[in-house]
Amino acid sequence: MEVRIGESNLKNIFFLARHAIRHLRNAYMHRYYLFDLFDSLKYMNWLNLGDDLIKIESVLLFQNHKIEKGMCLPEPKKRFGLDALRKIVKVLDGLDESTIARIDVNVMSSINNTLASYKTHINKNADEKNCIYATEVNRLIENRFRDEFAGQSDTPVQLMPKTVLEFEEYLNFVRSRKSVRNFNSSRKIEIAEIEKAIEAALETPSACNRQPWQVYVTQDMELVYKCLSFQNGNRGFEKTIGTLLTVVVDKKSYFDPTERHQPYVDGGLFSMSLIYGLHARGIQTCCLNWCATREKDVGLHGLIKLEKSKEIIMLIACGYADGGVLVPRSQRKSSNVFLKNLDL
Ligand SMILES: Cc1cc2nc3c(=O)[nH]c(=O)nc-3n(C[C@H](O)[C@H](O)[C@H](O)COP(=O)(O)O)c2cc1C
Repeated sequence: MEVRIGESNLKNIFFLARHAIRHLRNAYMHRYYLFDLFDSLKYMNWLNLGDDLIKIESVLLFQNHKIEKGMCLPEPKKRFGLDALRKIVKVLDGLDESTIARIDVNVMSSINNTLASYKTHINKNADEKNCIYATEVNRLIENRFRDEFAGQSDTPVQLMPKTVLEFEEYLNFVRSRKSVRNFNSSRKIEIAEIEKAIEAALETPSACNRQPWQVYVTQDMELVYKCLSFQNGNRGFEKTIGTLLTVVVDKKSYFDPTERHQPYVDGGLFSMSLIYGLHARGIQTCCLNWCATREKDVGLHGLIKLEKSKEIIMLIACGYADGGVLVPRSQRKSSNVFLKNLDL
């Protein structure tokens, strides 16, 4: 018996085969979750600090933050902070002087001043009920202060009473930012301008004030193109990009799987602040997604010699844009779809 495969049957077979291949490829990519799991096990824990500065600073900032915020609650608990203090003391006692000297000066100064205020706070509120606790706090804090940090970065501080910007002014500012895909490549950005923007971006909130981010900048055109070759959303305007930023977050700043998404949250918030900081300096930007395959992620890490614990959050193309350059309107949805009032 002769079996004939008609043209439409052939089309169906090709269609199914293409779908099957796509599904298989997607299924194969699910191994990325395994890589995430391994990375999380490897980097997101503080069981062994060693002399790893990122981990040490993150633990210190994390515990410091507990004490600092404890003093700012409406009715600070009488016995808060002892556990955090013990952890700070344990970490500091485990470090040699040369490692302590490598810790960021602002971190050390912050701890110094938190402990000073904490001591005052506890002693002020000490009574018969918590005198053992106060004695323990005093014992742990004793001899911890370093004169070189005295009087710097006092904490807590009073909230500034008035915002400087009027809302309309702020709205105009945020509305005037647009993703630009046609930069004036003959105008170079001074690195000092990026530093200014970073200064503002440092005010970004981060989980327990760990500030886990870093920004890598390149203006070397050859390196810019090489970096961009690993990214999938720059085609058509890559030649106009004179400055490329890579925003990364160090996974070692986090301590367990409950924090597994935190790098993206902290990194995303920081990126937005940076973009606004750049915008305020007259520099235009376009976020470039890092939805990269494992191979590309490894490729860019290798190219810019990035430690494996550093998660790439996004690339940001930067440059000056000439007046009149076209940008998509990128219409936002109606504002009433975003807010869901649980009380109604
Ligand atoms: C995380 C992220 C990744 C993005 N990736 C790209 C990209 O790869 N290429 C691109 O041209 N635009 C990219 N964009 C820009 C968006 O398309 C743009 O922000 C959006 O359309 C809204 O437009 P607007 O930025 O002009 O307001 C990205 C934006 C974000 C936030």
